[in-house]
Amino acid sequence: MPRLTTLDIRQMKEKGDPIAMVTAYDATFAHLLDQAGADMLLVGDSLGMVVQGHDSTLPVTMDHIVYHCQAVCRGSSRAMVVGDLPFMSYQISVERALENAGRLMASGGCGAVKLEGGERSAPAVRAMVEAGIPVVGHIGLTPQSVNALGGFRVQGKGEEAARRLVDDAKRLEDAGAFAVVLETIPAPVAEMVTAAVQIPTIGIGAGVHCDGQVLVCYDMLGLFDEMTPRFVKRYEELGARTRAAVKSYVDEVKARTFPSDEYSYR
Ligand code: KIV
Repeated sequence: MPRLTTLDIRQMKEKGDPIAMVTAYDATFAHLLDQAGADMLLVGDSLGMVVQGHDSTLPVTMDHIVYHCQAVCRGSSRAMVVGDLPFMSYQISVERALENAGRLMASGGCGAVKLEGGERSAPAVRAMVEAGIPVVGHIGLTPQSVNALGGFRVQGKGEEAARRLVDDAKRLEDAGAFAVVLETIPAPVAEMVTAAVQIPTIGIGAGVHCDGQVLVCYDMLGLFDEMTPRFVKRYEELGARTRAAVKSYVDEVKARTFPSDEYSYR
């Protein structure tokens, strides 16, 4: 089956088919998430927290994202793979942004890139789109700006802040972004943004009125306990199940009951 393209994503919005995006960081997970029918696999810089163990996404580099994009592309065949541009890979200049976005496409193997910021990122988005790179925007709670925002907190509260989000989404659309992630904003504000643009909105902690949803796979599977935002629905408790499974293994090794004859060569 060929990979989904920006055309497919646009058609999903036109037909009213919700878009299911989930993060992925390695080939094994990518394979499972692809088989489960995820439309878009985001190689998010959230990997800095859930894979690398940092307390923010800031330490993630281009080399890290390229490495994980390659793995996710190898493990999947249908979903569109979106590579996240890490902190300081697109803020310094439009030229640097274009170069790094191109690297995620050419070396990472991605079908699109994502970057944070509305109006301030529009010139970089425009340059990427002109170079043939599909771009997903990201507004609301933008984790790379966590220090400026004063923590991981709800954005877009109040009339003025909501209006700025609508403007930001329009700027990204004008610059050519084909979709926009809305993170941690009140559901009515996400509804306003979705009504104001033609491109699909993909929500995370943004309520039900978006055209699609995205979750961090480690969060939704119960693998990451350090921080669980209210919007995370845990569809599994793989953390607890992993602990129990590995404890059984450890107990059997200590008791010399593993490997039994069944798992040994004669
Ligand atoms: O890095 C990431 O995983 C993201 C999602 C939370 C949208 O940007």
